[in-house]
Amino acid sequence: MARRTKIYEGKAKVLYEGPEPGTIVQYFKDDATAFNAEKKDVIDGKGVLNNRLSEFFMNGLQAIGIPTHFIKRLNMREQLVRKCEIIPLEVIVRNYAAGSISKRLGIEEGTQMPRPIIEYCYKDDSLGDPLVTEEHIAAFGWASQQDMEDILSLALRVNDFMSGLMLGVGIRLVDFKIEIGRVYEGDYQRLVIADEISPDSCRLWDIETGRKLDKDVFRRDLGNLTDAYSEVARRLGVLPKTAQMPKPTIVE
Ligand code: TMP
Repeated sequence: MARRTKIYEGKAKVLYEGPEPGTIVQYFKDDATAFNAEKKDVIDGKGVLNNRLSEFFMNGLQAIGIPTHFIKRLNMREQLVRKCEIIPLEVIVRNYAAGSISKRLGIEEGTQMPRPIIEYCYKDDSLGDPLVTEEHIAAFGWASQQDMEDILSLALRVNDFMSGLMLGVGIRLVDFKIEIGRVYEGDYQRLVIADEISPDSCRLWDIETGRKLDKDVFRRDLGNLTDAYSEVARRLGVLPKTAQMPKPTIVE
């Protein structure tokens, strides 16, 4: 078997060169980190669930005309994606207050925002992904004015899609983070949704009980993370109702 070239290893995923030029294999690890990797653990089955859930969300977005980097799932832990240049921003959309906005602005968690609020963080782990404004983004050339207009529109469309999808299965989409990539097609560039969309990068609360079904379960020690992610997957029909999560040793 030929050895693959590792391009990058992040906290939750490894990227390998794909089989064709312009493609990348995204491998989902079981590693969970929080607070800029101050808290770490390995959670059996998390990578398998996030691979499936991210595929499900990306396919859904594509189906309504929102471009993503996703090409196809390869196996339990890997998906083939288009290579793109990642804009160094974490684009956060908030429908309800939680996490850092609650701390920063003293808003009680669960308070509905007057309208979806978009925030940008500069992607730099050594700085702890600091919040930045459009002024920083423009002045430092991280994205153009046109990019920013496109990013805003993509973020709001993703929010509408994800909120509706979740509402349909009794889950409130409190907030989420996306990353945006540039792909070049001849003389043109296009922005696509990249990275992953999963319960690692969203806050998801059960509408009836308020139960947290996202990475806050790990961040705040609220119980079993794979149980929470499996619940999301089951409600969305991504996992059969009776499915047991396979142990990662089976697929590695
Ligand atoms: P925050 O409240 O910590 O700023 O997080 C807002 C949303 O962004 C939440 O859904 C979790 C997600 N997020 C990430 O996906 N990656 C990160 O590094 C951080 C800080 C947040």
